[in-house]
Amino acid sequence: MIVAERLTKIYSIGGQELKAVRGVNFSVERGEFVSIVGHSGSGKTTLLSMIGGLTRPSYGRVLIDGTDIWSLSDEELSRFRNKKIGFMFQFSSLIPTLNVKANLLLPVALSGRVERHHEERAMELLERLGLEHIAGAYPSQLSGGEQRRVAVARAFINRPEIILADEPTGDLDEESEAQVMELLTRMNRKEGVTVLLVTHNRELAAQTDRILRMRGGYLQES
Ligand SMILES: Nc1ncnc2c1ncn2[C@@H]1O[C@H](COP(=O)(O)OP(=O)(O)OP(=O)(O)O)[C@@H](O)[C@H]1O
Ligand SMILES: [Mg+2]
Repeated sequence: MIVAERLTKIYSIGGQELKAVRGVNFSVERGEFVSIVGHSGSGKTTLLSMIGGLTRPSYGRVLIDGTDIWSLSDEELSRFRNKKIGFMFQFSSLIPTLNVKANLLLPVALSGRVERHHEERAMELLERLGLEHIAGAYPSQLSGGEQRRVAVARAFINRPEIILADEPTGDLDEESEAQVMELLTRMNRKEGVTVLLVTHNRELAAQTDRILRMRGGYLQES
């Protein structure tokens, strides 16, 4: 379902070239739950954002269900992304002027009309993360960990086929971390969502189907 071919990203900073991702090849089947591990700076976020259509590769291709996503126009790519992919990024932020429920429903509101079933799904997702009591609260009234979990729930609202999660549990306590992992696992098993999870947590990685390891921009399967 996801294929990366010789995927490469070279950044140039002050005339210096930095090879963040170097000729990475891999494929992920539909319904797989794959983790990506590796030291800080090894290229994990860069890799994920090229797969998600957010960072244009210097070389190589990303195929999702056979579509070469980087050959699409900007408009086609953003439509493709909104339809297929849910993002949980390292610093995903909520809109301060919208309450929690409205933040959750934002991806729906942006692409169409919010219906009853969307609202029910929003509440169900909040319940799974133990957050139903704060549906009406505004982001500034939440703790950092609560904000983080709302952003996690938001990624699922449009029933994406793929979840790209970049350390979604980075600054959460153990209990919230377990809730987020449970939600990912549940959506993977029940809804068949394909998950790519970047994590520094070995125990979490060990719970997934397969571990990919990034080292200095190279990918090693382990
Ligand atoms: N926009 C950018 N411009 C220039 N260099 C960048 C940019 N983004 C990342 N880099 C560099 O590319 C390399 C890989 O960065 P990346 O963010 O992919 O690492 P990472 O594995 O996600 O690290 P971490 O675990 O700390 O999040 C790093 O050396 C980083 O400094
Ligand atoms: Mg990163």
